[in-house]
Amino acid sequence: MRRQQELCEQANAMLKRAYVPYSNFPVGAALLTSDDEIYTGCNIENSSYGLTNCAERTAIFKAVSEGVKAFDGLVITGKTEDPISPCGACRQVIAEFCPPDMPIILTNEKGDIKETTVEGLLPYYFEAEDMDYARK
Ligand code: THU
Repeated sequence: MRRQQELCEQANAMLKRAYVPYSNFPVGAALLTSDDEIYTGCNIENSSYGLTNCAERTAIFKAVSEGVKAFDGLVITGKTEDPISPCGACRQVIAEFCPPDMPIILTNEKGDIKETTVEGLLPYYFEAEDMDYARK
C-alpha cells in the first residue's frame, strides 16, 4: 500500500484520541485518498452505547463530508493481541465508498499486519446495483 508506514503511524497515533470511557477499547484508522491526502479517525463512544461511531467510519465520514470520495487504502489498528478485526457495520460502510480491490491493512500497536481488501473483508456485499430491479 502506498505510504503504508505513514498510514500505520497516523492510525496508531489516533488511539490516543479515541473517546472510549465505556469499552476502554481504542481504535484508530487512517484513510488514503487518491489525491494522496490522509484522513484519520478514532472511535467516539456515547453513554447511549448504540450511538458510538467506529474509528474507520469516522475517517470515511470526515473525508466524504469534505467532498472526497476516491480512496486508495485504509489502515485500522487497535491495542489488540492480533491485528484488529473491523465490525460488520464498518465493513459495509467501507464497501460503499471504496473499490472492491482496495488494500486494507489490519494492524495493532505492536505492528503485526494482516493485509486484505474491501471484498476480502465483506464478500458478496450489498451495493447499489443490488437494488436495480426496484429502481426501474
Ligand atoms: N470499534 C471500532 O471503532 N471499529 C471496529 O471496527 C470495531 C469496534 C469500536 C466501537 C467501540 O467503541 C469499541 O470499539 C468496542 O466495540
